[in-house]
Amino acid sequence: MQKTLVIIKPDSVKRRLVGKIISRFEEKGFEILGLKLMAIPESLARKNYSEHEGKDFFKKLIAFMTSGPVVILAIRGKNAIAVTRTMMGKTACHEAAPGTIRGDFGLSNRFNLIHGSDSHESAEREIELFFNKNDLIDPVQTELKWIYDLSDGKIV
Ligand code: RTP
Ligand code: MG
Repeated sequence: MQKTLVIIKPDSVKRRLVGKIISRFEEKGFEILGLKLMAIPESLARKNYSEHEGKDFFKKLIAFMTSGPVVILAIRGKNAIAVTRTMMGKTACHEAAPGTIRGDFGLSNRFNLIHGSDSHESAEREIELFFNKNDLIDPVQTELKWIYDLSDGKIV
């Protein structure tokens, strides 16, 4: 099963949306393997967004991501990377569809509430940036058999 990294950005924390956003991932059926509140040091924000280095919005993005505490989650589930991106909605909140996190809670192009890894490689890299291996819990949730059909030994 796939893992991905989610960052609940400073605007969400300041706007007291953390509980609502985490609920969406829990209700969807994802397992939470890691969860923490932290202030991201500038060097770590730069590493996480290294693919945007040199772009005109990079400086503003780093200023935003280090402007207050964030909540970091490592989650696991079927197609976690793509499903999380779909649940987030388009980058610019004013273009994001209703029902998505950005579509329901925001309007800004940049203060867009949430980050999610965009590929398998980024997910691996970003989870390692924010969590030590020992910090991640394997919850072994017995209710998974009600989230997926596991009756044939596969995740359906
Ligand atoms: P994220 O990486 O945070 O999950 O967001 P994303 O994939 O939807 O968007 P991406 O293109 O990776 O951009 C990273 C973040 O930079 C800010 N941004 N500002 N033109 C702008 O002013 C602009 N474009 C992007 C947003 O906070 C975006 O999420
Ligand atoms: Mg991105």
